[in-house]
Amino acid sequence: MSNYVNETLNNIEMRRSIRSFTGQPVQEGDLTAILEAANQAPSAHNQQAWRFVVVRGEKKTELASLVSSRAADFPKASSALLRMAARSIKSAPVVVAVVNTGELINHGTNLFKLNAEQSLDFFRTMEIQSSAAAVQNMLLAASSLGLSTVWLGVLFLIKEEVVEFFGEPEGEFMAVIPVGYAAKESQGPGKRPLEMQVRVLE
Ligand SMILES: Cc1cc2nc3c(=O)[nH]c(=O)nc-3n(C[C@H](O)[C@H](O)[C@H](O)COP(=O)(O)O)c2cc1C
Repeated sequence: MSNYVNETLNNIEMRRSIRSFTGQPVQEGDLTAILEAANQAPSAHNQQAWRFVVVRGEKKTELASLVSSRAADFPKASSALLRMAARSIKSAPVVVAVVNTGELINHGTNLFKLNAEQSLDFFRTMEIQSSAAAVQNMLLAASSLGLSTVWLGVLFLIKEEVVEFFGEPEGEFMAVIPVGYAAKESQGPGKRPLEMQVRVLE
């Protein structure tokens, strides 16, 4: 809990993952605002090696079907998470997928002249970290507008199929984010206290 009264800090503290949504649509302007916020994130070498794919209408129904149809191929816990993800995708009015484009990997490899293995490891990690910052910007922008989201990472288990589905077969799966209005507010799980997470070296 922060001791400051500050809108940004308050928004960060109040954001919670929501997995079930009302039918209320997301205004086009709000969707653009959260995509703009994502696109403003810091990125390694300012490459913005991310693509945001907006999925709605029939395509969203198809995505939910794809995810639930593949759930049975996985052991119990992951299968349950995939089915839950499919339900969230179905219930949200709009879904945003984030895919890494590989542009930083190509750009950095040419520029830095590292060996191939080191280069791929380095720039792929930088792409993932940059896109994670973009995703978090998106989640926070959404909650600041009264919208709810959940970061669905479990679709990584079927990453080849989903990036193909998003029309980004050369890209790397990053996140799928249903966006909408919460069917029910959530307190979310508690967080470990800061004292457990911080070490000071001096
Ligand atoms: C990288 C990442 C992947 C996640 N994947 C899933 C997922 O596949 N399904 C899901 O329901 N929640 C997923 N979440 C949401 C977490 O479960 C959630 O953030 C965590 O329980 C803390 O709750 P809070 O977001 O309400 O603070 C993911 C979160 C992150 C950061």
